[in-house]
Amino acid sequence: MRSLIDIRDLSTQEIDELIKTACDIIENPEKYSEKCRGKKLATLFFEPSTRTRLSFEAAMYELGGNVLSVSSGSSSSAAKGESVADTAKTVSCYADIIAMRHPKEGAPFVAAANASIPVINAGDGGHNHPTQTLADLLTIYREKGGFNNLTIGFCGDLKFGRTVHSLISAMSRYTGIKIVLISPLELKLPSYIKKDVLKKNGIPYSQTTDLLSVMPELDILYMTRVQRERFFNEEDYLRLKDSYILDVKKLETAKPDLCVMHPLPRVNEISVAVDSDPRACYFKQVLNGKYMRMALILKLLEEAKK
Ligand code: NCD
Repeated sequence: MRSLIDIRDLSTQEIDELIKTACDIIENPEKYSEKCRGKKLATLFFEPSTRTRLSFEAAMYELGGNVLSVSSGSSSSAAKGESVADTAKTVSCYADIIAMRHPKEGAPFVAAANASIPVINAGDGGHNHPTQTLADLLTIYREKGGFNNLTIGFCGDLKFGRTVHSLISAMSRYTGIKIVLISPLELKLPSYIKKDVLKKNGIPYSQTTDLLSVMPELDILYMTRVQRERFFNEEDYLRLKDSYILDVKKLETAKPDLCVMHPLPRVNEISVAVDSDPRACYFKQVLNGKYMRMALILKLLEEAKK
């Protein structure tokens, strides 16, 4: 059974096809409005979410399908001690496809190994978030026209930020990519990603704590929230949370066609005044996420028939 646990589960060609489908959905939504009639998506979210869960659900409704939802661990049998494997087997009896978010790294992988229907990882702990990456890729494609020859700055919590991990993984397959890692020393990108993704694919990268010094070279600036829920103590979080705040002044030296991205939710990382700058793309990411999730649900349900 085909699932999506890691963005590397999709080939470059498959990503191109998903983008093509998403663009067709944008142009011709009526063509897709009955495609999932009679099908059910189960959203199992054991961690907070607004965009990811609602965009999966909106995606399924726009395909003519239905939704079953667990929106917190405390309201499901997980609170009684049920294993992820048993939950996956159970939900396979009710639904046709699962989107799962879980605080434990690897939980969606375990779910996929036990479910008889496709499982989509909607974020597992500080590990991966492949469907946010699909939203990010469609945004980059629509803003930049393609994926090659881009310098991408990732700024903020690069240690725990799962959206960063997945997007770096996805971009490392394209040519002419340069990565600039901007974070406090305590929140640097994990070394396993530098070794297994950046070094392995020969992607040039640099690391700095200073956002302003690298601003002029960036084509994309991917801002992130400091992931409070993954910290061991509140003091460290309070010390690091406002390390980077992007404001209008800091954008003065940026390229005129810079694309400012953020997976959201934003806390303080981007001042609200930046929202009206044409370079702000983060609310476009939100909408693109729905289209890519529609394309992904269609693909996985189609493959499940085979
Ligand atoms: C992100 C996540 O859950 O990892 N949010 C999202 O899905 N758009 C980013 C975050 O929570 O900071």
